[in-house]
Order: sequence, then C-alpha cells, then structure tokens
Amino acid sequence: MAALDIRPATGADALAIATVHVRSWQAAYRGLLPQSHLDGLDPGRSRVQWKSVLGTTAWPSAGTLVLVDSDAASVPPTESIIGFAGLSPTRDDDDDDPTSVGELQTLYLDPGAWRHGAGSLLLHAAQDQLSRAGFVTASAWVLETNVRARTFYEHHGWRFDGSTKLHDWGTFVVTDVRYRRPLV
Ligand SMILES: CC(C)(COP(=O)(O)OP(=O)(O)OC[C@H]1O[C@@H](n2cnc3c(N)ncnc32)[C@H](O)[C@@H]1OP(=O)(O)O)[C@@H](O)C(=O)NCCC(=O)NCCS
Repeated sequence: MAALDIRPATGADALAIATVHVRSWQAAYRGLLPQSHLDGLDPGRSRVQWKSVLGTTAWPSAGTLVLVDSDAASVPPTESIIGFAGLSPTRDDDDDDPTSVGELQTLYLDPGAWRHGAGSLLLHAAQDQLSRAGFVTASAWVLETNVRARTFYEHHGWRFDGSTKLHDWGTFVVTDVRYRRPLV
C-alpha cells in the first residue's frame, strides 16, 4: 500500500465500491453463506444499486466514506479504492432514536488489505464522522457467524447489545446481531 486516504464517495465510485464489496463478501462469507449466492455476485450488476445508494448521500449524517490507496508520485498519479464504510441515522424501529444513534451500515475492505490496520483506520474515521454529525452512540448489524468482524469490533470497544434479527436475503435467511459503542 502506498498512502492511505479517506474521502467521501461520489457517484463515480460506484463500480469500485461494488467490486470491493463483492470481493470482500466472497472471501469473508465463504462457508458462512451459500456458495451459490457468493458465486453469483457481480459488481457490474450491483454497481447500479450502489449508484442509487450514493445518490442518497446527505452529509454530515448519511453517506459513504472510501478508503483510497493513492500514489501521488507515480505518473500519472494513481488511486484505488480498497475499502468503504456506509453511515446513516439508525434504521431500527425499536427504542433507538435516529437523532442520537448513528448506524454503521457497511464496513468492507478488499481482502488483499486485511490485517494491516486499514480497517481500524476506516472504522475510526467512520466513528469520528458519526460523532461530528451529533450522534452519541454508534450501532452496527453483523452476521452472527462473522467471528472475524465481531472480534474486530470488540477490539475497538463495540459490544453486542443482545438484539438479534433474522435477515431474509431472498434465497436464504441468516441471523444478524447488533453491536454498539458510545461516541465520546
Ligand atoms: C472486518 C474488517 C473491516 C477488518 O479490517 P482489517 O483491515 O483487517 O482490520 P485491521 O487490520 O485494522 O485489524 C484486524 C486485526 O488485525 C490485527 N492487525 C492489525 N495490523 C496488523 C498487522 N500489521 N499484522 C498482524 N495483525 C494486524 C488487529 O490487531 C486486528 O485484530 P483483532 O480483530 O483481533 O482486533 C475486514 O476484515 C473486512 O473487510 N472483513 C470483511 C467484511 C466484514 O466482515 N465487514 C463487517 C461487516 S459488519
């Protein structure tokens, strides 16, 4: 990795984000989700959905941050997106208040970048952004069997709050667990 920067995503990043998303899913969820589903993921198709997600950006409380590996010294300068984090007010309809609870909707890194501290960098930037937006608590839903991510969040002070939900992906159903962390 050359130099890592974090910036707000734009609509032009849709394909790069979709590519990281698919690569990260295929590596992280192998053995956890049906292989046929993972094999069928296609960045070219999901790019359209990402374009629409990016179109709903409403900073400071909602949007996507991208983690960029950039090399300003190369000619021409190069930049590649190696991770992203999606933020919004909580979408949960329980007692959580969307003016005080900010949701980390997504946090995905390209598998080639795992375990070099880049995920921690992006998580800290996401927490800082939620805090700047006025939220006092951050929440995130994690696949129950995603031990790598659960350990990572716990290392960063997030805790399972006891809430679970079934997530219906159409062809399969999984259990998600909710984590939260104070933003002080
Ligand atoms: C979860 C995820 C974002 C973490 O990103 P990452 O860049 O691997 O995270 P880091 O490198 O900052 O930290 C990961 C671990 O590597 C360790 N680590 C960091 N730098 C290291 C290094 N140079 N050498 C060895 N280990 C290192 C950290 O201590 C940390 O250990 P821990 O999880 O036990 O605390 C990443 O694995 C990912 O994208 N996973 C797939 C998607 C996913 O599951 N997302 C969550 C959806 S809710």
